Amino acid sequence: TKPNSVICFPTGSTVLGLYNELIKNKVDFSKIIAFNIDEYLGLSKNNKQSYNYFLKKNLFNYVNIKKQNINLLDGSTKNIKKLCSDYEKKLKKHPIDIIILGIGVNGHIGFNEPGSKFTSKTRVVNLSKETIRSNSRFFKNIKEVPRKAITIGIATILSSKKIVLLASGKNKAKIIKKFIKGTITEKLPATALRKNKNVTIIIDKQANSLLD
Ligand code: GLP
Repeated sequence: TKPNSVICFPTGSTVLGLYNELIKNKVDFSKIIAFNIDEYLGLSKNNKQSYNYFLKKNLFNYVNIKKQNINLLDGSTKNIKKLCSDYEKKLKKHPIDIIILGIGVNGHIGFNEPGSKFTSKTRVVNLSKETIRSNSRFFKNIKEVPRKAITIGIATILSSKKIVLLASGKNKAKIIKKFIKGTITEKLPATALRKNKNVTIIIDKQANSLLD
């Protein structure tokens, strides 16, 4: 309904089904402006573990998006402060229509780890032990997982007109229960979304298995 939407895209296994559907159904990306949510600090765009690489390999290479409309965080930056403030400026110029989110096993959204302020903006973060362990499945071994990342903030996420969070699989059941039923707290970053009326949560049966 809005061909020139600004869309913020995540990485992770959960979203792959959605990307396959967008590709299969030949959704028109000719006017879409895309941003990504997060990136490992220290990984170059061509590194196979980078989120830049992931998004190109799983989505952008197969849709008719214009190269100049793809905005990605560069993990190999030498000037982190400038990169983060430039990204926020760009997002101000192109307010996000839809952001699609996954959720980490510790409740992170993007790479906003437990303890992230609900007022946070794009910045560098230290990854938690849980995230490093969980994401090590994509690397040769746990030592290779970067310890830091760049992520848009919780406030950046909340500024989106629509927020869609996807969760699937049994390993998300515990955190989904806490996210929906627990207290709203910066200790569980996803709970920031519960204050927002523009959020849609889509979960499969397995992720839903601990909710009654
Ligand atoms: C990563 C990303 C998140 C993503 C999450 C879930 O750590 N930084 O943006 O939402 O993991 O990933 P998955 O869908 O593979 O469970």
